[in-house]
Amino acid sequence: MHEWGESLMEPGESSGLNVSVADEAAVAAGHRAWWRDAVVYEVFPRSFLDSDGDGEGDLNGVRAKLPYLEDLGVDAIWIAPWFPSPMADAGYDVSDYRDIDPRYGTLEDAIALMAEAHDRGIRVIIDMVANHTSQEHPWFQAALAAPAGSPERERYLFLDGRGPDGSEPPNNWISAFGGSAWERTTNPDGTPGQWFMHLFAPEQPDLNWSDEQVRNDFDEILRFWFDRGVDGIRVDAAPGFYKTPGFPDADYGGDLRFLSGEWVGNPHWDVDAVHDIFKRWRRVADEYEGDRVLVAEAVVAGSERLARYLAPDEIHTAFNFEFLKVPWDAGLRQVINETLEVLAPVGAPATWVLGSHDELRLATRYGREDSSSAVGASADIPSDLELGTRRLRAAALLMLALPGEAFIYQGDELAVPSADDIPDDKLQDPIWERSGRTVRGRDACRVPLPWSGQVPPFGFSPDGATAEPWLPQPAAWADLTVEAQASDPDSTLNVHRRALRLRHEIRAFRTDDFAWRESPEGVLDFGRGPEVRCVVNLSGEPITLDPDWEVLVSSISLDGDVLPHDAAVWLAPRAS
Ligand code: NOJ
Repeated sequence: MHEWGESLMEPGESSGLNVSVADEAAVAAGHRAWWRDAVVYEVFPRSFLDSDGDGEGDLNGVRAKLPYLEDLGVDAIWIAPWFPSPMADAGYDVSDYRDIDPRYGTLEDAIALMAEAHDRGIRVIIDMVANHTSQEHPWFQAALAAPAGSPERERYLFLDGRGPDGSEPPNNWISAFGGSAWERTTNPDGTPGQWFMHLFAPEQPDLNWSDEQVRNDFDEILRFWFDRGVDGIRVDAAPGFYKTPGFPDADYGGDLRFLSGEWVGNPHWDVDAVHDIFKRWRRVADEYEGDRVLVAEAVVAGSERLARYLAPDEIHTAFNFEFLKVPWDAGLRQVINETLEVLAPVGAPATWVLGSHDELRLATRYGREDSSSAVGASADIPSDLELGTRRLRAAALLMLALPGEAFIYQGDELAVPSADDIPDDKLQDPIWERSGRTVRGRDACRVPLPWSGQVPPFGFSPDGATAEPWLPQPAAWADLTVEAQASDPDSTLNVHRRALRLRHEIRAFRTDDFAWRESPEGVLDFGRGPEVRCVVNLSGEPITLDPDWEVLVSSISLDGDVLPHDAAVWLAPRAS
């Protein structure tokens, strides 16, 4: 278990890479911030564990499974939004930033969860959704009730429509969930009113981050949670906060309409002035002891744009979507190199992430012929789950051996596949309705976890539960439960446990040491200092392992010194 404030480097020792200007003094003093090498486990609370039998997960469910998370060996959990929410977008529509949704429990439960997690050496990162609120937030309700031009409306982006009667949206901006980014309001007397902007669903009106009341309120909201013990804040939809004044039309360029990862110069995405907001958030985080961390969710056009969020006085880390997007092939090497190169000058650690509540389940994606990421991709594309699972396990060893922070999405440690057979009337992702029921959205990766037993709810809800899980679990998950995998030494769960244990034991994993070794075509082979080495075979052929090195952990059971394709090992030098 990590100790708080643990000193991981000798005074004066150089890490060789990735040390920011801001952190140089800290490193020289022998202190290395915990988040530089943390393994963070994403908890999607609605689907983690249902302690009270209402068919939805809750915070007491997370508390009950802290021993599982400690045993797994994660350093931190990131909890997807836990605030009161009408759930128009799975909690990413917040109606009160200072409380807990009743379906998840109470503020006291959240505080107890944090204290108990800390006792087990697990830090807690929460999800701050501040690009937009819920329509049900009192700020928005007050804005609707107030006249055009009022301070209440200033908190949001209300504009008059175009055309003689204002019946056309103020500009051509689109919502990430389909359709226009503008929704017209109705005045109290029933006449059509102004329009408000929403980057996501209409139930999620965008805040106006040029408004000082908004900036001040969020300073206080961040302090509210830091005061209660959160160790970090994930910044949802970071590039969206700031919009170009004057609201000019966007030039999306043909079929790049929904590809924010390729937008540069777009008036509502990754606008340079957005950085002032996060420098301000950083100042708030820096008011607190204990290396509080900000983690950006920023899907922008490439690593160079991403690095701008990671300046030494801004956000500490950001999800690396480039690594997530690429297929399972030798091209991973290039993404790893680009990531490390681009982040070195700003001193931010790399973050490696392969799954989340927004993505196709990894076991499914890696079993497809085209294994690049495609959010909401059709369930009809065939997947070889055995292959997908084998690759997922190798990918876990790759990811967990790379320098920096790694994120594991709940259930990926079990190789749970996408649940592609959710009946249409159970789908909840707003993408489903907004796309005219053509894109099924992200529910397939949000199905409640299988913990134990042979039939649904697989221990997700207690015996005698009054409700079924909010999304149905496939019957075929009986073999994937934690219970089934815990007792199988060759299970995906146990590969993760072994790797995470070693990651804590081997000091090199808490340094920035990283160097490629010479390897045959299609093989990724790198050392983390002289102590440990990771070999990933993507060549399509079996390879023979170096006899001078012994296997510490392997993604599948090995036959002698042969590493089959789509498999990975960690090695240590053999004692001579
Ligand atoms: C990113 C979140 O991960 C996603 O689930 C959500 O729909 C959008 N931001 C909007 O908040």
